[in-house]
Amino acid sequence: MIECVPIMKVFVTRAIAEKALARVRQAAETEVWPEDRAIPREVLLEKVRGMAGLLCLLTDPIDGTLMDAAGVSLKVISQMAVGCDNIDVPAATVRRIPVGHTPGVLTDATADMAWALLMAAARRVAESDRYVRARRWKMWSPTLMLGTEVTGATLGIVGFGRIGAAVAKRARGFDMRILYHSRTRRPELEASLGVQCADFETLLRESDFVSIHTPLSAETRRLFGEAQFKSMKPTAILINTARGPIVDRAALYHALKDGAIAQAALDVTDPEPIRPDDPLLELDNITIVPHIGSATVQTREKMATMAAANLIAGLRGERLPNCVNPAVYENR
Ligand code: DGY
Repeated sequence: MIECVPIMKVFVTRAIAEKALARVRQAAETEVWPEDRAIPREVLLEKVRGMAGLLCLLTDPIDGTLMDAAGVSLKVISQMAVGCDNIDVPAATVRRIPVGHTPGVLTDATADMAWALLMAAARRVAESDRYVRARRWKMWSPTLMLGTEVTGATLGIVGFGRIGAAVAKRARGFDMRILYHSRTRRPELEASLGVQCADFETLLRESDFVSIHTPLSAETRRLFGEAQFKSMKPTAILINTARGPIVDRAALYHALKDGAIAQAALDVTDPEPIRPDDPLLELDNITIVPHIGSATVQTREKMATMAAANLIAGLRGERLPNCVNPAVYENR
């Protein structure tokens, strides 16, 4: 007798690297949302019905209602990102659905972007470009677009996981004094990277540059507000390549406008995309790029491949190579 094996179906919320999609297609019947914009919630609620796997992006809010809309067939959620703050992970854990993510492969690309923003803000690169394009450049001047020296300055890194440590590596090349503040102390890295652990207040007070590398959580939401900006040097520069809501955007606006800090450079905003009428867009002392920290051809391909591998492992009932909620494997 021939056994009928039901075909597993997966839904992918955006076109990702073709090589990775080809693997997914080999493993399951695959539908990909064809538009290059976030799939509307009501459409996704329909599309996930009966799916065994969901490959999603940080632009897709994934909550218990959506998991229930998929139904008991849902065996795996695979996110093509390291941060999973768009996913209700406890809701997935309760339902015994493993959630995959893509740590490690985007560390260098994201650290490079943090560094690019730090340098751009310190040397007023975006502002200078706007100045030239506005045909305002008349002559060389000893006072034109004076910035801040990076070499030898103090860098404060908030959140010292892979990306924070990779930023520290880059800072060493600039002979910086490096402070870090993190939930977990990393003594093994203190000597090798020449970094010093500091409490949050000391880091804010002593740093010329503060770079954020902590995940978004209940504890880190609005970690940077009016009080924190007031603790920082008036010459300080804030860099955020982590998540927008870690910074209170109204407080940041006032800090930049009133001179509590000198500059900010953001790869992430709250919300994303930034609202067209956000007053931050009116300021000259801020550089904003559209969440492109991991946006290199090579890194995005690695992220897609890793997300595909997590998805396929979940479909097969195997342990995900990179699982956010390993508790789903306990007491099985
Ligand atoms: C992530 O993976 O969390 C990044 O923000 C995407 O670049």
